Amino acid sequence: MPQKVRGVVARAKGQPVSVETIVVPDPGPGEAVVRVRTCGVCHTDLHYREGGINDEFPFLLGHEAAGVVESVGEGVTDVAPGDFVILNWRAVCGTCRACLKGKPWYCFNTHNAAQPMTLEDGTKLSPALGIGAFAEKTLVHSGQCTKVDPSASPTAVGLLGCGVMAGIGAAINTGAVSRGDSVAVIGCGGVGDAAIAGARLAGATTIIGVDVDDRKLEWAKGIGATHTVNAKSGDPVEAIRELTGGFGADVVIDAVGRPETWKQAFYARDLAGTVVLVGVPTPDMRVEMPLIDFFARGGSLKSSWYGDCLPSRDFPYLVDLYRQGRLDLDAFVSETISLDQVEESFTRMHHGDVLRSVVVF
Ligand SMILES: NC(=O)c1ccc[n+]([C@@H]2O[C@H](COP(=O)([O-])OP(=O)(O)OC[C@H]3O[C@@H](n4cnc5c(N)ncnc54)[C@H](O)[C@@H]3O)[C@@H](O)[C@H]2O)c1
Ligand SMILES: [Zn+2]
Ligand SMILES: [Zn+2]
Repeated sequence: MPQKVRGVVARAKGQPVSVETIVVPDPGPGEAVVRVRTCGVCHTDLHYREGGINDEFPFLLGHEAAGVVESVGEGVTDVAPGDFVILNWRAVCGTCRACLKGKPWYCFNTHNAAQPMTLEDGTKLSPALGIGAFAEKTLVHSGQCTKVDPSASPTAVGLLGCGVMAGIGAAINTGAVSRGDSVAVIGCGGVGDAAIAGARLAGATTIIGVDVDDRKLEWAKGIGATHTVNAKSGDPVEAIRELTGGFGADVVIDAVGRPETWKQAFYARDLAGTVVLVGVPTPDMRVEMPLIDFFARGGSLKSSWYGDCLPSRDFPYLVDLYRQGRLDLDAFVSETISLDQVEESFTRMHHGDVLRSVVVF
């Protein structure tokens, strides 16, 4: 029997979200219904609400979640009812060109549930990143469920489902930060601070956090920034150069995703350095700059979707590091909230009052 649950829906561009009744079908072949325990509020949810991702309203928001598998459909063998899982938005197919080349983190054909979740009147919902976890229960593809150690706090490890994985992976997987490197991270929100944590885990010795908000810079220090720069008080490119012996950083990560921050990242890196864009730009954004600057500096310009992660490989080891006290995921949780407070949490995110608000069911 399809179930009715409460979930957070964005009905129209720029409009406040509302809590609505969602119809969750029984899992079909390859699918799973998950009872959501926690779901973090990621800036990408706000991008969806603002129409910055696409126009497929209404959206069922939420995609940074941990939960317990309630039921599975035909043919599902990788997870079973009762399993504690982190939901992922990269359920790799195993058969596309990227997967066959041995680079499944670029999978072109990731799995999502085949059946739609709907409003009570039958209107189909677009689940954010194919997940839709600001809901008591959600329907996903079983491959979107990554089993992890059930003794870990869901509030903390659920954040690996999006922003924290995106940030850590931007540093470790995409940026290939290594021991002794200098790293600058522009934008110290949940994703940027996770990039700082990733740079620290990888052994970077100079880690510069850049933001426009001093509170964010304080939190960044707590997570591992060795230096901080307020981009409002001067040119961040100059400041990063000064802090790196006049050279620029080996790896600069743009966790804001605007033309001006990307250009700062471009010019704040050392010769042959790497830029990693992890903040999500909107389709209208443009960058114009002298091509010779790219040629003359060498190095690489990369973007990082979901930290180039492979959930089955990366979630369990990051949960282990958390449980061993080597990755402080609790530091990312600014507050826990109820489903009815998601709209307010967007305002707090906008004002920079939080790193992560986490809905707890
Ligand atoms: N690539 C991915 O896979 C992926 C995954 C998750 C989130 N994201 C994106 O990452 C970005 C950050 O997400 P978040 O959840 O950390 O958001 P957030 O709102 O928590 O953090 C953004 C931070 O950037 C700072 N900032 C804004 N303008 C700035 C500027 N000009 N210079 C320096 N700092 C500035 C803000 O003060 C804030 O601290 C968003 O664009 C989000 O959509 C990408
Ligand atoms: Zn694939
Ligand atoms: Zn996200």
